[in-house]
Amino acid sequence: MSSDIDKESADWLSRIDAAATPADVEAIRIEALGKQGAITARMKTLGKMTPEERKTVGAALNNMRQTVQDAIQTRKVTLEDAELDNRLAAESVDITLPVADRLPGHIHPISQVMDELAEIFADLGFAVKSGPEIEDDWHNFTALNIPEHHPARAMHDTFYFPAEGEGAPKLLRTHTSPVQIRTMMSEAPPIRIIAPGRVYRSDSDATHTPMFHQIEGLVIDRDITMGHLKWTLETFVKAFFEVDDVVLRFRPSYFPFTEPSAEVDVGCSFAGGTLSIGGSGDEEGREWLEILGSGMVNRRVIEMCNLDPDEWQGFAFGVGIDRLAMLKYGMTDLRAFFDGDLRWIRHYGFSPFSVPTLSGGVGA
Ligand code: PHE
Repeated sequence: MSSDIDKESADWLSRIDAAATPADVEAIRIEALGKQGAITARMKTLGKMTPEERKTVGAALNNMRQTVQDAIQTRKVTLEDAELDNRLAAESVDITLPVADRLPGHIHPISQVMDELAEIFADLGFAVKSGPEIEDDWHNFTALNIPEHHPARAMHDTFYFPAEGEGAPKLLRTHTSPVQIRTMMSEAPPIRIIAPGRVYRSDSDATHTPMFHQIEGLVIDRDITMGHLKWTLETFVKAFFEVDDVVLRFRPSYFPFTEPSAEVDVGCSFAGGTLSIGGSGDEEGREWLEILGSGMVNRRVIEMCNLDPDEWQGFAFGVGIDRLAMLKYGMTDLRAFFDGDLRWIRHYGFSPFSVPTLSGGVGA
């Protein structure tokens, strides 16, 4: 019996040795050791043997299975190595061939505009700050002089998280203004920062999406006035839209965290179906377009951040980045910004290789 097994084992080994390709070896493996394989079938007969037989035959069968398995493994590796050697010897790479045409990625207009804004404000000495998108009630509302039950809370359609324990539930920040609070709490004035980022409100139509982008500006020092605010905003709008003839209109408004507050409109024209920024909105054929909210930081907000409002004062503003992008680059539906449609990004996106920079002007 065991010489039988020796013979069978030798047969397998010579077949394995004769195999010419890794696929041939694999076929032999299945034939011998696969689920329906010959050796597998032999192993199954062990159960029907007497303990005596099992001792001798079992050992021989196990031995055969192991030997065949090892031989298959070794032969496979040898053949695979040989195949690779042959390919390496035969193939060559023609580096002069043209490469396959792959579409490059695009920079999203929002990222592009954020970079432009950071560049403009960096030139004016502003640092860039960020804060959490999941905010607490205190930073998003209370510290900004919007106490609980204040009607101004209703101006923001807030997304709240389920309440956890005692305190007010967490929320998705409804504006970038909490970064003002975080900066005043953690840094000593003078402060000059911008904070771009995502904000959330439960709102959706052609000009509103539940997630959108704002950029916050904050300046705190000893003698800051509305004059500084006006100059800063004018300089920013001129640089951003790349026009000198910019006229801004400051319209009295209300924000709980600024006093006085102003909404700012820019003069523009929609003549011929395209928007051009410039001139006074009161001129014939022109109109005013609202672009941001601003004001002098409310004394109570400064106090809330443990600063002395008799020593420190300043201004703040908040601009919708998506709005700016639409105005500058002529996009009409805000929702398309976040659809992830490749055709849209190929049309409106910016090439990473020729990004328009403000210092270089808008290139191709
Ligand atoms: N946070 C305000 C908003 O989202 C905008 C704003 C910022 C107004 C700073 C004044 C000062 O509507």
